[in-house]
Amino acid sequence: MSADLSVTFTGLKFENPFLLSSAPPTESEANILRAFDAGWGGVVTKTIGVHPVVNVKGPKTNFLRADPASPHLTMRKRPGYALHSSWNWELISDKPLDWWIGKLSRIKKQHPTKRLVASIMAGSGSDEELRHWQTLGTACEAEGVDALELNLSCPHMDRPDMGSNIGKDQELISVVTHAVREAVKIPVWAKLTPSTTDIVVEARGAFLGGANAIASSNTFTSLPLIDPETLDFEMNVEGYVSTGGLGGPAILPLSMAKMAQMTAALPDREFSGIGGISDFAHALNYFLLGCGTAQVCTAAMLDHAVGPNVIKSLMQGMTEFLEKNAHRGWKSLEDFRGIRRDRIVPHSRIKRPAEAGYHGGYDAEQPGSAAAGGKTQG
Ligand SMILES: Cc1cc2nc3c(=O)[nH]c(=O)nc-3n(C[C@H](O)[C@H](O)[C@H](O)COP(=O)(O)O)c2cc1C
Repeated sequence: MSADLSVTFTGLKFENPFLLSSAPPTESEANILRAFDAGWGGVVTKTIGVHPVVNVKGPKTNFLRADPASPHLTMRKRPGYALHSSWNWELISDKPLDWWIGKLSRIKKQHPTKRLVASIMAGSGSDEELRHWQTLGTACEAEGVDALELNLSCPHMDRPDMGSNIGKDQELISVVTHAVREAVKIPVWAKLTPSTTDIVVEARGAFLGGANAIASSNTFTSLPLIDPETLDFEMNVEGYVSTGGLGGPAILPLSMAKMAQMTAALPDREFSGIGGISDFAHALNYFLLGCGTAQVCTAAMLDHAVGPNVIKSLMQGMTEFLEKNAHRGWKSLEDFRGIRRDRIVPHSRIKRPAEAGYHGGYDAEQPGSAAAGGKTQG
C-alpha cells in the first residue's frame, strides 16, 4: 500500500499538502491546469484585484546566485553558481476580475478533487474598499473555488491602504478579514507579511476577524544588490529601483522563525507554511513546527514554470519519509505535525557547560530569572 499523503486543512481534503503559492506559476488557466496534472494538491491563484495594475518596464523577477568558491553574489547567470534567492517587484494579477470569471469554474470542473484557492486583494479604511473585498470574495466563491486567501502582504504596494500596509496593522487585518468572513461561506486564509516586529500580533488580528488559517510568509521587503562595476542596482529601470520582495532558499530560516512564533502562541490554529521550499526536507520544517500545508513559488518558477519536478520530489520525499517512520506508527502528516514546536525555548533554558547556570542576563535570584520562578526573556 502506498503512503497516504492526504491532509485535511481548514475542513478541506487535499490529496497532498503541497500547493503552488500565489505568483506567476498560477497566473493563468493553462498554468493551473498543468500544475494539477503535474500533481500539486492545490493552487492559490495569482492575486486578483479590482484596482488598475501596470507592471514595471522590463523584468519583474530575477534570481540571485552564490558562487560556492567565493563570497560573490550576483543576478548574472554564471555556471556553477547556486540559487540564493528570488527578488521581484511584480504587482498582483494585471488581469481584471472579469478575466478570471468563467476560468476559475472551468478549472474547478476539470479538477474537482484538487483544491483551488483564490487570492484576492483590495484596499482598506473605507466602506467602499471593504465592499471590494466582498465583491471579489463572493465572485470567486460563486465560481466554485474552495477557499480564499487574503493578500495582506504584498511588499510593494504604493497605496498605504493595501498589501503589506494592511498586514502591518492588526486592526485593519481584523476589519478586512471580518468583512470577507461575513460575505462568504468558504474558508478564509489570511496571508501575512513577515515585515513586522511580532507577527503573533497580526495573526491574532486575523483570527479575531474570523480567519480559518494563516499563510506565511510572503516575500521579505528587500532591495537588489548594487553592481560594484556599474554602480547600478542589478534590477532597475533607467537607473531607478523601489523595494521589492525576497523569496527562495535565503528566506527559509527567516520564514521558519516567523512561523514558529505563531504556531507556539496559537497551537490550536491552522497554518500554511511558505518560504524557501524546494524539496521535502524544507517542507518538513514547516510541518514539524505545526503547519498543515506548504506552499511553493520560487522553486516552481525555475522548474518549467509550474514545478512538475518539484512536486514529484515533494511527494516522493513525503512517501519515503512516511515509509521510513512507519515503525513509529506514523501514517499521515497529522502524526508528526507540530512535534518540534516545543523545542524552541528561551535562550536561558538551553543547557550551559557548567553547573553555574545562566539566568537570561538576570542574577539568579532576581525577579524574572528562571531560578526565581519568573518568566525568562529571550
Ligand atoms: C514573481 C513573484 C510574484 C508574486 N506574486 C504574489 C501575489 O500576487 N500574491 C501573493 O500573495 N504572493 C505573491 N508572491 C509571493 C509568493 O507567493 C511567496 O509567498 C513567496 O515568493 C515566498 O515563497 P518562495 O520562497 O517559495 O518563493 C510572489 C512571488 C514572486 C517571486
